[in-house]
Amino acid sequence: MKRILTGIQSSGIPHLGNILGAIQPSIKLSNITESESFLFIADLHSFTQIKNADALKQNTFETASAWLACGVDTEKTVFYKQSDIPEVTELSWYLSCFFPYNRLKLAHAFKDKSSNFENVNCGLFTYPMLMAADILLYDADVVPVGKDQLQHIEFTRDIGIKFNNHYGEIFKIPDSMTTKDADYIPGIDNQKMSKSKNNVINIFDNDSNLRKQIMRIQTDSKNINEPKDYSSCTIFKIFSLIASESEIFEMKKNYVEGSIGYGDAKKLLFEKIKSNFKNEREKFNEFKLNPEEVESKLKIGSEKAKSAAKKTLKRVRSKLGY
Ligand code: TYM
Repeated sequence: MKRILTGIQSSGIPHLGNILGAIQPSIKLSNITESESFLFIADLHSFTQIKNADALKQNTFETASAWLACGVDTEKTVFYKQSDIPEVTELSWYLSCFFPYNRLKLAHAFKDKSSNFENVNCGLFTYPMLMAADILLYDADVVPVGKDQLQHIEFTRDIGIKFNNHYGEIFKIPDSMTTKDADYIPGIDNQKMSKSKNNVINIFDNDSNLRKQIMRIQTDSKNINEPKDYSSCTIFKIFSLIASESEIFEMKKNYVEGSIGYGDAKKLLFEKIKSNFKNEREKFNEFKLNPEEVESKLKIGSEKAKSAAKKTLKRVRSKLGY
C-alpha cells in the first residue's frame, strides 16, 4: 500500500494555485483504495512569515477548512497539524546536520522568497530541512506537489539516501508527483500565483471580492473586436484549467475570431469558478461556523500521526547513537 503525503502552509487561505496544484490532486490520489494518505497543515513553516498568534491560529483553521471543503475524507486520511507533532523538529535538526550548506544555498524557493520578503530569517533558509523531515518522518512513498516544490523533494531524497548509505536503512526514499498541466497556475499578473506576490484568486472569498480579483487580471489592450492570442492570456489559461473541453474550444474560437472582449472573458471565468467550486465554497462557510468540528477532526489525525512519528524517531535515534 502506497503512502501519500503532502502539506500546505497556513500563511493565508489556500488559493486557486494551491487547490489545482496540490489539494485536488492529493485528494484524488487519496481516494484510490490501495493507498493511505497523510495530509497536513504546515503551520510551523508559516511561522517563517507570521509572527502574530491570532493570525497564525486563524490561518491554520482556514487552511484546515479549505482542505476539508475540498473533500478530505478524514476516515481514510491522517489529517493533522504539523505543530501537533514536535518530533518533526527533532528530525529536522538531524537532517540539517547532514545536508551541505552550499547545496541549501541553491534552493530556488529561498531565492524567490528572500527577494519578496522583508523578514529573511534563518528559518526561511532552513525551511527545506523541515520539509524533508515532514516527509521522511512518515515513511511517505509519494509526495504530490506543484512544480515549485520539486527541488525540495530532490533535497529530501538526497538526504534520505545519504543517511541510508551512512547508517544503514533508516528512511524510505519518496517520489514526487506533479500534475501534468501547466508548470504553475498563474496569478492575476501572469506570474506564479503566490500568497507572497499578492496576485491570488481566492475561491473562498465572497462573490464581490472574487469578482474584483478576477477583474484585476492583467491583459494587453486589444479591443473587443480584435483577434486575441489565447495562449498568452491569463484569463484563458486559468479558464482552461477548470472548464470542459467544449467550453475551452468555444473560448479559443472567440479569441481567434475577435468576438469576445477581455471584460466578458473575465465574467465567464468568474461564473465558471463559482459553478465549479459551488460545493467547496458552501462547505468552507459551514466549517467556518463550526470550528469545534474542524478542531476535533485535526485532533484525531494528530494522534495517528504522532504514533507513526514516534516509531520513526525511535528508529532514527537508535541508529544515530542517542
Ligand atoms: P505552499 O503552501 O507554498 O503550497 C502548497 C502546495 O501548492 C502548490 N502550489 C502551486 N501549484 C501550482 N501553481 C501555483 N501557483 C502554486 N502555488 C503553490 C505547491 O507546489 C504545494 O504543493 N513547502 C510547502 C509545504 C510543505 C510540504 C511539506 C509539501 C511543507 N512540508 C511536505 C509537501 C510535503 C509549501 O510551502 O507549499
